[in-house]
Amino acid sequence: MALVTSSHAYYTLKIMGDGGEMRVVVTGANGFVGLHTVRELLNVGYDVIAVDIVTSKLQTLFRGNEHCKIHTANILDEDFESLIEEGDKVLHLAAVPRFAEARENPQKAVKVNVEGTLNVIQICIRKKAERLVYSSTGSVYSRNVPIPIREDAAREPDSVYGLTKKQAEDWIIFYSNRLPYVILRYGYVYGKGKDWGAVGAFLKRLKEGKRPVIFGGKQTNDFIYVKDIVQANLLALETSYVRNTFNIGSARATSIKDVCELCIKAMKSDLTMEIKPARAFDFPVFVYDISKAQTLLGFEPKWNLSDGIEDILK
Ligand SMILES: NC(=O)c1ccc[n+]([C@@H]2O[C@H](COP(=O)([O-])OP(=O)(O)OC[C@H]3O[C@@H](n4cnc5c(N)ncnc54)[C@H](O)[C@@H]3O)[C@@H](O)[C@H]2O)c1
Repeated sequence: MALVTSSHAYYTLKIMGDGGEMRVVVTGANGFVGLHTVRELLNVGYDVIAVDIVTSKLQTLFRGNEHCKIHTANILDEDFESLIEEGDKVLHLAAVPRFAEARENPQKAVKVNVEGTLNVIQICIRKKAERLVYSSTGSVYSRNVPIPIREDAAREPDSVYGLTKKQAEDWIIFYSNRLPYVILRYGYVYGKGKDWGAVGAFLKRLKEGKRPVIFGGKQTNDFIYVKDIVQANLLALETSYVRNTFNIGSARATSIKDVCELCIKAMKSDLTMEIKPARAFDFPVFVYDISKAQTLLGFEPKWNLSDGIEDILK
């Protein structure tokens, strides 16, 4: 057993392997959440098999690191199977994660998010992977659920993206007697590397000297900094509470208008926000109950919004 303490992390992690280091296969490793997670996995001593259809950022950041093997592969292709070995832990992040892309091309969203996940599950079973950790979303919930949202609230997505993520969850649960899983339903993730959506798009516009645009503004979301998401991913890879689903958020409701104001303040900008009419598909109120993740996973969000935004700008 190796006991490894992360230099910047919040916790001590035990990594147990049969003499060797514990391997984690990360799909979608070249993406926003993937890159942050791979960096921390390497910091705490895992061997990482980083998989993505595009690997340019992985190559720039991690090429030459003997603990990080980078593979350009599609989770839907046969050759993906050769990348998973018995006993591996698999963190499955690869997806079509944007609402607009999923809405405009539902076939592609089903192919990647549903069939892709099913492929990952079946390979994990065949190769006797130790567990599957899956990045799901608050978009699986019905917009009429009681607030704060608990994990047992009704799942009735009203977006193509949410529907495909729900279907992926269902396949994982369907095979749960053959493959231990942990499903993490992330809140609204923001951080360095995501320059779209609230926070990312606001900062980008402000940097360009343009007014940030908000739609409505009163609607709230549960904003969670990507470093807290990384913490949750690592805890899920080690928890003994497998076959469980967890909400991963800050448990704080923040309005889009307040988020935009924080961005303007952090940028010390004189610009004001441009307010456009609210969009029908935004949840009016969204905030998580995270007590299950706190109690069973030991998850504790460390970053409030203003500190997270300052950290992005550093
Ligand atoms: N960012 C958020 O706010 C958020 C919120 C909730 C859930 N999630 C989930 O977290 C995960 C990661 O999201 P992200 O924000 O990092 O997205 P991202 O788009 O930055 O990363 C996804 C990665 O998956 C890769 N990919 C897509 N199709 C693939 C395929 N067929 N084979 C291999 N790789 C493929 C892409 O190239 C990309 O690098 C997704 O599953 C997403 O649904 C994200």
